[in-house]
Amino acid sequence: MTTAPPAFPQARVCPHLPPPAYAELRGGPALRRVTTHAGQLAWLVTRYDQARTLLKDPRLSSDRRRPGFPVISVQVQLLTERKRQALIGMDPPEHDEQRRMFLPDFTLKKVRERRADIERIVHESLDDMLEHGPPADLYQEFALPVPFRVICRLLGAPWEDRDFFQDAIRRLVRTFDTAEGRQAGAELLAYFEHLVTEYKKTPDGAGLIGRLAGTGRIGDDDLALAAMSLLIAGHETTAAMISLGAVTLMENPDQLAAIRANPEAITPAVEELLRFQSIADSANLRVATADIEIDDVVIKAGEGVLIPGSLANRDAGVFTDPDVFDPSRDAGGHIAFGYGRHQCLGQNLARLELQIALTALWQRIPTLRMTVPAEELAPRPPGAIQGIDALPVTW
Ligand code: HEM
Repeated sequence: MTTAPPAFPQARVCPHLPPPAYAELRGGPALRRVTTHAGQLAWLVTRYDQARTLLKDPRLSSDRRRPGFPVISVQVQLLTERKRQALIGMDPPEHDEQRRMFLPDFTLKKVRERRADIERIVHESLDDMLEHGPPADLYQEFALPVPFRVICRLLGAPWEDRDFFQDAIRRLVRTFDTAEGRQAGAELLAYFEHLVTEYKKTPDGAGLIGRLAGTGRIGDDDLALAAMSLLIAGHETTAAMISLGAVTLMENPDQLAAIRANPEAITPAVEELLRFQSIADSANLRVATADIEIDDVVIKAGEGVLIPGSLANRDAGVFTDPDVFDPSRDAGGHIAFGYGRHQCLGQNLARLELQIALTALWQRIPTLRMTVPAEELAPRPPGAIQGIDALPVTW
């Protein structure tokens, strides 16, 4: 009797820990078959070396429209239907041209210039939370608004429209209903198309949209789609990492104390949090454009490949005792931001936001604690950026 390949991604039980079945997948072959949300058979890469080799392989495409692309959620299904793709769904040469256009806003130098601004946003959010609490919802009142304000400023997306953005994004990224997601995506895109048109009337407008609108370097439709996807990618992930990072730190009080005692310890601690959480099972999706031989396996042209950080970043051959949260380890080689051509455009920004947010949180609220055990927090469904939508705390 043959058993169907396991489903991937799987659901987390405790939101800050990987699904229990992943430990078993890590113990098996480096490449194995799994079943996607859409019922396709696809290849799952379970080891670090093979993950990095494949993420560098030009025979793997990121284009969601190609037949066989692994559909791991309703959200990926919606992307397969789109005529235009955002950066993450493009292949060269189009990908490299567009990436070069956005890069100036995301270099280490440019991001460092934002430090004071990010610190101000972090402290203002904490002021608001302290004024209303305790208790408080650390996700809604801190982890979410901080990266949301930062990315709105970087893009030049008006903060006054945050209620519209948040509602439409929630309907797009949380839904299990394709019609609802399609509608929300259309509303967001129409909003950004209008914004690009407005920016074209004001030379030297604010942010990335203002810098590129009307320059002729990128079409209006592509800029609108890019702005929409940067708004989403720029806060969903970082908000999830601030909140889950805070949970992991509260669950590990000795390590938290060591980080608080040494301000420089936050830099490696954030890398370890990124490795330990690996929130983006929904990223690093590819489809083969030619047969690829690797580890006695042939990935056939047209087959989907899933290369999740949640497995590679816990490869015991690379990270000793991978299930232990050890902020003093050198976790810098993790692939939580991906690897190769599509490696996260916003990684410098995300790192700085995490370092500032998680430092300020305990400077301002040394007695911060959760009011429910971590395992009672509701995880997100598989296929979403892993995270939580509420984090009840007191102090
Ligand atoms: C790509 C994770 C924050 C924008 C990626 C990829 C991963 C990732 C794994 C690779 C996808 C692939 O290869 O298919 C994360 C995590 C974050 C984070 C864990 C926070 C902790 C951000 C931020 C921004 C951003 C703050 C923007 C402001 C992007 C973009 C891409 C990307 C545009 C596509 C790059 C390309 O295709 O060239 N991210 N990300 N991300 N990320 Fe992030």
